[in-house]
Amino acid sequence: MTVLEVLQATTAYFKKHNVENARLNAEHLLAHVLGRKRIELYLEFERELAETELGALRDLVKRRSKGEPLQHLLGTVEFCGLTFLCDKRAMVPRTETEQLVDLVESRIENRESRIVDVGTGSGVIALSLAAKFHGAKVLAADVSDDALALARENAARLNLSASVQFLKSHLLENVEGDFDVIVANLPYISTQDRHTLSREVLHDPQIALFAGERGDELVRELIDQAPSRLRPGGMLALEIGLGQNEELLSALAEKNYRDICAKNDYSEVTRFLFARYG
Ligand SMILES: C[S@@+](CC[C@H](N)C(=O)[O-])C[C@H]1O[C@@H](n2cnc3c(N)ncnc32)[C@H](O)[C@@H]1O
Repeated sequence: MTVLEVLQATTAYFKKHNVENARLNAEHLLAHVLGRKRIELYLEFERELAETELGALRDLVKRRSKGEPLQHLLGTVEFCGLTFLCDKRAMVPRTETEQLVDLVESRIENRESRIVDVGTGSGVIALSLAAKFHGAKVLAADVSDDALALARENAARLNLSASVQFLKSHLLENVEGDFDVIVANLPYISTQDRHTLSREVLHDPQIALFAGERGDELVRELIDQAPSRLRPGGMLALEIGLGQNEELLSALAEKNYRDICAKNDYSEVTRFLFARYG
């Protein structure tokens, strides 16, 4: 079979198995097997595939059609222009979170800020900010040993190990010192909404998805903890779940944060909250 024929057959197979963006997934997996960039496939449509290549692709296609996330099969994900390792040890980074990083970046005035990323997962937020702000001191905290191991591997691959410290901690419990920026994309899904999640999302670690019966429990706890850890005028930046904004905005006001504001993601969901303290 040629590259084009394989792409067409794989796309049809994915559609039958309810894989979203069937053609794109097919292109990513074939490019991965051939060690090419996706765009390069277009220059090789007539190339015949070897049996070994077809065998490797078949295995990935089967796994993808059963709901394994594309990023786990590729082993990497692009985030804020950097390539991160991605596997079942931590949540697959989402595109919304790239927007959180951009919004945080645009609000940081001091390039030598002290920043903590709470619930760092694969390290995408902490490492992207460290790559943007070379003088910053960045701490990445997570309660999961698996996530921290992956985040450390990502730091090493990106040559950022010297710029980011990693720490096992429940929220800010083991974190010392004070910060100009506390940023967090914590678990915010209610355990009751488990049945609404796609089979791909259910490959993320449970500890990265669910906070409790309400969904916003961990975010609320961080809103309580953060004032004692923010330097005067320091910023708390949060990614939150669908429909959680109003109550969390009230929680920020009750705790006497100032300059409180909410921002929508590209799907027009209120997804990010920002507030300063002191
Ligand atoms: C939604 S994932 C986000 C990961 C990463 N920040 C990202 O944006 O891709 C939430 C992360 O919070 C971590 N986490 C869960 N409970 C925590 C807690 N009590 N304290 C610190 N981190 C926690 C999980 O292990 C997971 O890595």
